[in-house]
Amino acid sequence: MELDGKRIVLGVTGGVAAYKAAHLLRLLTGAGARVQVVMTESATRFVTPVTFQALSGQPVFVDPWDARMANNMAHIDLSRAADAILVAPASANFLARVAQGLADDLLTALVLARDCPLLVAPAMNRQMWENPATRRNMATLAGDGVLCLGPAAGAQACGETGEGRMLEPEALLEALCAFFTPKVLAGRRVLLTAGPTFEPIDPVRGMTNRSSGRMGYAIAQAAARAGAAVALVSGPVALPAPPGVERIDVETALDMHREVMARAGAVDVFIGVAAVADYRPAQVAAQKLKKELGGPPVIELVHNPDILAEVAALPNAPFCVGFAAESEQLEVYAERKRQRKNIPLIVGNLIQDGFGGEANRIILFDAQGAHPLPVASKAQLARQLVEHLARLLEKR
Ligand code: PMT
Repeated sequence: MELDGKRIVLGVTGGVAAYKAAHLLRLLTGAGARVQVVMTESATRFVTPVTFQALSGQPVFVDPWDARMANNMAHIDLSRAADAILVAPASANFLARVAQGLADDLLTALVLARDCPLLVAPAMNRQMWENPATRRNMATLAGDGVLCLGPAAGAQACGETGEGRMLEPEALLEALCAFFTPKVLAGRRVLLTAGPTFEPIDPVRGMTNRSSGRMGYAIAQAAARAGAAVALVSGPVALPAPPGVERIDVETALDMHREVMARAGAVDVFIGVAAVADYRPAQVAAQKLKKELGGPPVIELVHNPDILAEVAALPNAPFCVGFAAESEQLEVYAERKRQRKNIPLIVGNLIQDGFGGEANRIILFDAQGAHPLPVASKAQLARQLVEHLARLLEKR
């Protein structure tokens, strides 16, 4: 999981968005993090420590004089045991106190005593956020190396609308995962395809395949977290775009071909994960085919362009990564495909392993040979692929 082994102090301060911190805690522990919650006194007016204790499986700390720590130095022990401190929601008052270096409660004291990164997710009324005092405090915090996540704009609990909403827990989880991801693709531009294509036969029918888009979307997310600027040309799938990824929706192989070729000359890496239809109906009927008009129709098919092969043949071709979905003899067919398409890296997977589900089993084939990876989630495999890709790019 993304945050496996990471130790996070989740600071919760007094604001309505404190109720969302409970969901954030679930997401963090679900991603493998070990989370220690520290609340300010005013946060306990919004949500009780019992909720956070139940969700984290850890005692919650509020009071700087809490005697549960053997040495009675919770502010030191808790901050030393953390890989990062995330304060969400971070109120205007809390941010002001941290900017001034105050240590007048447990949370500010452990923030002052920290030797790990501090991330804050501000949440406050829009006027409080825009107030020159808050602006000064945020500038001070940025200068001190504090990472500010958000805030977002929108409807506020007070009934006003503007900037000051805490980022949603899912966005905060994503930001934390990205924060911990080594930036092995920093400065690289990556173009991907994902999902199936849909080749229409008539206004209601068409030919498609079982690709869910999960593998391609996971790679897009892993590449973005690793610091790349990512554009994702996607066939029809039911997945949200990964945060920070530019998504271009297409339907047919010809649409995908057009969108990829318009961008391929300006990227460093092209990864073809899409299950592109090799053929399309030669004619698309303008009206619905009627079964009353004789027997079953005979549909003539014509070849679609091979997008990956065309990108690899560009005079200034990006580093090309292909996928090979095979039903048998994966080692033989995938390596053969890599050589025929003249690409440095191909990812082989068996159709029964790769299509659909959350997990996959892949083998990476490059000039050095075959590198099998154990069965894992598509997110995990995407991270491993990105690391392998970064090493190959380094050696180039
Ligand atoms: O989407 P999921 O449900 O997560 O499933 C993932 C996956 C199984 C679709 C994925 O892991 C995968 O294997 N994608 C490639 C599927 C495929 O079409 O393989 P292929 O062997 O037919 O094509 C070889 C390569 O050429 C692929 O990189 C493909 O994107 C590319 N291609 C193929 C045909 C075509 N006309 N243009 C292409 O660019």
